[in-house]
Amino acid sequence: MPTYLLGIDVGTTGSKAVLIEEGGQLRSSVTTEYPFSTPQPLWAEQDPADWWHAATVSIQQVLDETGIPPGQIAGVGLTGQMHGLVVLDARGQVLRPCIMWNDQRTGGECRALTQRIGAQRVLALTGNPLLPGFTAPKIAWLRSHEPQVYGRIAHVLLPKDYVRCRLTGAFFSDVSDASGTSLFDVGRRCWSDEMLAALDVPRAWLPEVTESPVVSARIGAEAARRTGLREGTPVVGGAGDQAAQAVGTGIVREGLVSATLGTSGVVFAASQTYRVEPQGRLHAFCHAVPGMWHLMGVMLSAGGSFRWYRDTLCAAEQVEAKRGTHSAYELLTAAAAEVPPGCEGLLFLPYLTGERTPHPDPHARGVFFGLTVRHSKAHLTRAVLEGVSFGLCDSLGLMRELGIACSEVRVSGGGARSALWRQILADVFRAPTVTVNLTEGAAYGAALLAGVGTGVYRDVPVACERTIRVTGSTSPGPAATVYADYYPRYRALYPVLAEPFEALAQVAGRHHRA
Ligand code: XUL
Repeated sequence: MPTYLLGIDVGTTGSKAVLIEEGGQLRSSVTTEYPFSTPQPLWAEQDPADWWHAATVSIQQVLDETGIPPGQIAGVGLTGQMHGLVVLDARGQVLRPCIMWNDQRTGGECRALTQRIGAQRVLALTGNPLLPGFTAPKIAWLRSHEPQVYGRIAHVLLPKDYVRCRLTGAFFSDVSDASGTSLFDVGRRCWSDEMLAALDVPRAWLPEVTESPVVSARIGAEAARRTGLREGTPVVGGAGDQAAQAVGTGIVREGLVSATLGTSGVVFAASQTYRVEPQGRLHAFCHAVPGMWHLMGVMLSAGGSFRWYRDTLCAAEQVEAKRGTHSAYELLTAAAAEVPPGCEGLLFLPYLTGERTPHPDPHARGVFFGLTVRHSKAHLTRAVLEGVSFGLCDSLGLMRELGIACSEVRVSGGGARSALWRQILADVFRAPTVTVNLTEGAAYGAALLAGVGTGVYRDVPVACERTIRVTGSTSPGPAATVYADYYPRYRALYPVLAEPFEALAQVAGRHHRA
């Protein structure tokens, strides 16, 4: 009897369920979408009930579509958006909407807590600075801004762990997702008593934490009725979306690095040892592979820069795309391929929504630098692709400084579909860019983790070997030496612009209010 595995991704825009065969073949993938709200500028909230409803719909649908008997599903793996704060009362009722990973309201709490605990101490205890998106400062925010909610908290959960709670009735998280809370001792892979004490967070509020491929709980009777799954099906710890995505692209041994070009851009490196960037410029989190860690750089506008460029400046290509067989992106990259590398001295800074790595600066802005009358639209297009690649290279450079070797970079996400962009990345990174056969990302990785926890695969690397194949490779070419010349010019720009960015934001803020 064939065995199947189910992965569920509680994402930012929807809950996705993927059902795979033991050999790795995808049988079905269904995403059910939901909105998020921004009740105030910089806020981002979501209703946990929406995740649960969407997850049940997606699960039912993959079961219906495939007709696979639920008894043949060996296990379930969960993944999802990280860092979100879900608070429940003693009866397990949600107390308020989730404060999400991209919510920026806690700048003040981060500054005050960092000052009180000490920046170096926070880094030593958790491997990371306190960042506004992370979970702990959101708890501090609730204490001062919503004391009536804070007073009733009995449980604190991350988004995927809320869905686990609905599926199984159990309170669990996993080491990779817990790493993004600022309450977790990433080096020791357990909650940090010192951080809990510093934030006055009772240990009893927090879930038990397991390694990602360990069975944490089983599908309960009510959840079985709602989803169509078999009661008693094992559910593994799972992983935060980036660690699960890495499993789903095979980044499970040191030397392998991935670059994901979605709206944001993520550079992710598996690490055999616990390494922390001395200034905390890279995230240092536990990997979903037991005994491994990972380093991560997050750029806020990667594919998002190119989309903004297309939507704002490329109406003609969009009209042409509607008439023909090529997308606007294909038309734009075809023209950009004709322009020399380095765009004859035109650089683009991709900080269109501020930046996280390596410049955590909400006021940073996008810039075209070096325009002359020689520059055509194709130059602008290529400069956008090159600028995003340079930005990703900043993260890779910090990883290399920490001793991470990079034999290849596995690229995924919408941007990686462009052969030109893959070539530019290979040239800028000075490492081959490689594509793999799987495109279901984090949900697929979560399904593999379920397979490890239920004995279908011996361990995570074996699960990846059995299912993931390299489908293409692009080697660095002659343009690598050109980019080696331009990259220092790119890097020199942010430090001189940081102050003008801040001053500009103040002026813009004044006139926005006026
Ligand atoms: C990771 C991060 C995002 C969110 C949402 O640090 O902020 O990946 O998990 O996708």
